[in-house]
This record gives sequence, structure tokens and C-alpha cells, in this order.
Amino acid sequence: MKKIEKAIAYEPTFEEDVRKGLTVYPKYLLSKYIYDQKGDKLFQQIMDMPEYYLTRSEFEILRKNTQAISEIFNGKDGFDLIELGAGDGKKTKLLLRYLNQENINFSYLPIDISPSVLQELVTSLKEELPTVEVKAQRGTYFKTLQKLSNYNSRKKVIIVLGSNIGNLHHKDAIDFLKNIRYAMEQEDILFMGFDQKKSPQKILDAYSDSEGITEAFNKNLLIRINSELDANFKTDSFLHWETYDPESGTAKSFLVSKLNQKVKIKALNLEVQFHAWETIHTEISQKYDDKVVNWLAREAGLQVETSFTDKEKYYKNYIFKIDY
Ligand code: AVI
Repeated sequence: MKKIEKAIAYEPTFEEDVRKGLTVYPKYLLSKYIYDQKGDKLFQQIMDMPEYYLTRSEFEILRKNTQAISEIFNGKDGFDLIELGAGDGKKTKLLLRYLNQENINFSYLPIDISPSVLQELVTSLKEELPTVEVKAQRGTYFKTLQKLSNYNSRKKVIIVLGSNIGNLHHKDAIDFLKNIRYAMEQEDILFMGFDQKKSPQKILDAYSDSEGITEAFNKNLLIRINSELDANFKTDSFLHWETYDPESGTAKSFLVSKLNQKVKIKALNLEVQFHAWETIHTEISQKYDDKVVNWLAREAGLQVETSFTDKEKYYKNYIFKIDY
């Protein structure tokens, strides 16, 4: 069996990350900081946008394959369904409803960084599926991955939907998968969504909508720095710009300074100079094909068992097991 080391890393604070990102060249900010209460709301609006096909494609996959997926999930003593980055749970509820209706023995452990999102999910589940056992946990991927191996009394099914892995560079995606792999036992399963390579225009449209919701979502980084670190970013003097490289499959988001300007971040005792048209890179949204997914899996000590796709083949959900 391939020896997989757990990838342990120090998790820096918001202040440390902002200082680092705005004092290097080229400048960057980490997309995980977009998600405060306002960022969560904007992301929900993005998921409802006609251009943002990802959510609908994954929903279609789960709706059309509920039974097959549930059969793969079930173990001899039932299973624990652990969802990393559960969000509003809209898609997962399709599976939960079916599992509950079939009297399958399982418990649901949604994990999310956002307490408000988690609270809404727990409340809605109490109403819609009162008999499902729910144990919600608040935390970052990093912290909760460390706790994952505590759940080993029966089969574990770890799910990560929404192509969330796409916000990580390949190296970090491998570390993320390694940490999940490290917590897995022989019969455990990882079920993960990966947005696929497709027409570059389709991808660009999904990340640069005409209503400016994606722009507001990215600019929430600046608003957060203003409110939490006492800064004076003028959001109107930055524009949102999206690129997609069909060779690497990487969509990249930028905030571009429209003019020469200085921004003060009082809590960091820092003044940041922007030249006209200088960029802040804010997010990558990686698009995949089978070759790349198989490579990531191999690097992390996992193997693809099977996969499900939508009718347009825009998106795929893969089932992974430990690679022996
Ligand atoms: C959460 N994540 C997978 C989304 C994505 O597609 O990269 C975040 C997002 N960024 C802009 N639109 C949506």
C-alpha cells in the first residue's frame, strides 16, 4: 500500500494572510475570506444565476442517480455521512430525503466554516427531515479534517460538493485529498464534485455575470478588510476581471486598480500602494478532466471507483476509495 503522509500545515490568521498578500508582487488575497455573512448571501445568489451552471449540473446528477449513489454509500452497519463545506445543503437534501425514506441507517454530519449558514441548515433539516440524525460542526476544512478520523465506528462517507476543490491550486488540492485519505479506512468513500473543462465562453460567463453579482462577491474581500481591519479601500476604483486558460483549465479572478491609489489598513499599520491597472488576484476556479482527477487521486493515495455526469457533461461527481 502506498504510504501517504498527512499534510500538516500552520493555518495563518486573516491579518497575516492579508499582510502577506498585499505586500508581495503580484498582489493576491485568498478567496476563503470572501465568505462572511454577506459573502455567503452573495454566493447563494451566484448559485441561482442562470450563467452559473455548476449548481444545476450537480443537482441533476444527484437527482438522476440518487438510488445508485445511495447504494454505494450504504455499509453493513449503515454509515456516517460527513459533508465538508455543507452550505445550504440544497443538493445534499436530495440524498438525505431518499436515504430517510428508504429507512437506511445513517447520520448526517454537516461541517461548515460559517455559523449562520450551518444554523439555517440545521433549522431547515429539523423542519423538513425531522427523523434524520444531524450532528452539525462549525470549523475550517483544516481543523475538521484533523478530527475526521475520530469517526470510525462504522463506514464513513465524506462528501465535498460544489467543485469546492477547484478553489485550490493542484498542490493544495493534493494536500487536501491526502488529509481526507489519511482519515479514511478501507471501506470508506469519498464523493466529490469536479467542474469539467468545457467551452471557454461558458466558463467565462459563469464567472463574469452581467448583473455584477460575481464582482460584488470578489469585492467583499475589500469590504471585509475595510470593516475588520479598519481600512479605506474604495471598491469603485477596482474592477472585476475574469480569465480562463483552456490549456490548464484554470479560471482566475482579479480585482484591477483603475488608478494610482494608496490604501491604509490601520489594524496592520500598513499603507498599500496600487499603480493604475495593477492587479489583486482573488480566486482560482479550476476545471478538470478525468486525466487530471486520476492524477490528483493517485498523488493522494486514492483511486477513482466510478463517476456520474450530467447530460451536457459539464460536471462530474467521482467516487474515490483508498488506493491499495
Ligand atoms: C465555491 N466555489 C466552488 C465557487 C467557484 O465556482 O469557484 C466560488 C465562486 N466564485 C465565483 N463564483 C463562484
